[in-house]
Amino acid sequence: MLTEKVEGAEVMEGSLVCPNCASTFPVIRGIPRFLRQALNAEQKATAAAFGYEWTHYSQLTEADRGEFLAWISPLTPADFKDEVVLDAGCGKGRHIYLAAQFGARTVVGVDLSDAVEAAFRNTRDLPNVHVIQADILDLPFHNPFSLAYSIGVIHHLPVPKQGFLALSSHVRPGGRISTWVYGKEGNRWIEQFVDPVRKNVTSRLPGVITRCLSFPPAVLLYAGLKLLYAPARTRPALKNSLPYADYLCSISEYTFAENFWNVFDQLVAPTAYYHSREEVTDWFNTAGIQQVKIERHNGNSWRGTGLMPLA
Ligand SMILES: C[S@@+](CC[C@H](N)C(=O)[O-])C[C@H]1O[C@@H](n2cnc3c(N)ncnc32)[C@H](O)[C@@H]1O
Repeated sequence: MLTEKVEGAEVMEGSLVCPNCASTFPVIRGIPRFLRQALNAEQKATAAAFGYEWTHYSQLTEADRGEFLAWISPLTPADFKDEVVLDAGCGKGRHIYLAAQFGARTVVGVDLSDAVEAAFRNTRDLPNVHVIQADILDLPFHNPFSLAYSIGVIHHLPVPKQGFLALSSHVRPGGRISTWVYGKEGNRWIEQFVDPVRKNVTSRLPGVITRCLSFPPAVLLYAGLKLLYAPARTRPALKNSLPYADYLCSISEYTFAENFWNVFDQLVAPTAYYHSREEVTDWFNTAGIQQVKIERHNGNSWRGTGLMPLA
């Protein structure tokens, strides 16, 4: 390690020298940068989109904990105790912050984009949390993790199954893996009506323009959530009469900012896939994962967990 600037226990500027591969990786603003190859056009666009999102919406919120626990269920905070944890695609770091709170021994958050700047700032005071910039497909780790999760990331990769298998290869035998992805089931109207707009228009625009375009649908969504879906949470007859009710009721208590950035998130990604239960099951089976549990979440997504085989 070559050190140029240190603040407290943090090396802010310097470089990491790899004796085995004869490569040097810079540490910039406290974050080791492990991007070995130049990004291709799709990766660049993905990194630009999410870099914009998480550096402009970088605060941690009250909703984070409940959402995270719902995405990783049946895992609970107790499953993090003393584990060495990997968050693949950590965004602004909301889940690495929580993993540390849950008692993980070490937490490493990895992201391709400038989101790492926000993740670093949000977790800087936590000595057992480390943020690095790297590609899930080319992670710079020799030692495997005892718990790895990836929330809302695999479906944004060019070949999602390849990303899942890359992630699973960094979990030790007997270790746990957890992921949450968009479902094919329950997202037909998004695939039919929103996706063409995302693919052909909004993901190709500068972030600031997509942000402006997100405002009108966010206002409409927010009104619908407060007027219909929030009351429907306690009125089963109303809930049964509303479309997309499981998901929209689940976000109906969110603030305007949370809903606004959810809309932006849907519109900004250059790559997004919607996966069937069979596909997600196939990823787990191909990785040889045992005790697999794939569950539908909010009627429009899949959460999956299991244990890496011991042998
Ligand atoms: C929808 S965001 C989810 C962020 C975070 N998991 C969360 O739920 O707050 C997807 C994240 O995946 C990251 N990402 C996309 N492709 C990646 C790759 N190949 N390697 C690492 N991260 C990637 C993006 O930069 C972005 O921060």
